Amino acid sequence: MPQYIRDFVVKDCIPELNCSLVFSGLPSSVAGEVESLFAQAGYPVLSNSKNHRMDEDVPLLVPEINHEHLQLLAVQKRKQNYGKGYIITNPNCTTMAMVLALAPLHQEFGLEKVHVVTMQAISGAGYPGVAGLDIIDNVIPYIEGEEEKVEIEPRKILGKFRDEKIILADFSVSAHCHRVNVSDGHLEAVSVALRHHPTLEQLIESLQSYSSLPQELDLPSAPRRPVVYVEGHDRPQPRLDRDAEKGMATVVGRIRACNIFDYKFDVLGHNTIRGAAGAAILNAELLVARGILKPH
Ligand SMILES: NC(=O)c1ccc[n+]([C@@H]2O[C@H](COP(=O)([O-])OP(=O)(O)OC[C@H]3O[C@@H](n4cnc5c(N)ncnc54)[C@H](OP(=O)(O)O)[C@@H]3O)[C@@H](O)[C@H]2O)c1
Repeated sequence: MPQYIRDFVVKDCIPELNCSLVFSGLPSSVAGEVESLFAQAGYPVLSNSKNHRMDEDVPLLVPEINHEHLQLLAVQKRKQNYGKGYIITNPNCTTMAMVLALAPLHQEFGLEKVHVVTMQAISGAGYPGVAGLDIIDNVIPYIEGEEEKVEIEPRKILGKFRDEKIILADFSVSAHCHRVNVSDGHLEAVSVALRHHPTLEQLIESLQSYSSLPQELDLPSAPRRPVVYVEGHDRPQPRLDRDAEKGMATVVGRIRACNIFDYKFDVLGHNTIRGAAGAAILNAELLVARGILKPH
């Protein structure tokens, strides 16, 4: 056991903890119930699990994109009778990488259709995850429940808070999800149809100049550039680019015109950093900066 962890105390997963908030990285088989119990007991819960992401009164928070969705907390409080507790979720790892690149495009040019083919890292399946004999020398063209999440979550994240709920953004997403023999970093081949038709230069400028609230507030985990544009004709690549901005950015490259949609490009995100724990931590930092979460 490493020295730094020897004195950590592992406690039962019941709401009797002396802390200001809880992060949940539980398997979906138990996360829904456990997170609700903690919220009912008055704990702020920041969850990485899928169970509450699409609940009408739960923010699916990406601080760069939809901090105004935090208005749902008042609705949640009233409807669920949680007292001081609440639940906030972060997106699925594949959605996370893609939505940071989609956000500036939707904001400036209006998304109409999104088509994505993913090549997802093994670590996305957790530990012990996919069996070695299944993934060596192989690609698995199926990840249970993944395509459904990738097709709906971006529409909630880019949706608008109105009349106490989120109105889903008006575009469609079609996803093909694959597990590949890469340790960390999801690569995604994305094609977009836009309502307005930017030039290639305008599209690149929109991605490169994207900056938002976490950057303005200089939150400790915020990437300086949420979207990093790489020029090489063979980039981004998981091994070379997944650690950009300490794993907190989406790396975009190979932007070019598409014969069917308007443009196509490749997107890469670190699935266990910005796609998981890093996203939850950035959410917590935003809550502290906004005075929603008070230090213990
Ligand atoms: N990996 C990713 O890239 C990623 C990205 C986004 C979202 N997620 C989501 O995040 C969650 C965790 O994913 P993961 O990849 O970290 O999974 P994982 O490697 O299977 O880890 C799950 C952890 O939960 C613990 N656990 C299981 N049942 C428990 C219970 N009843 N009470 C307390 N602890 C329990 C496990 O402890 P033991 O080891 O002792 O069993 C383990 O430490 C999942 O819902 C997943 O879908 C994962």
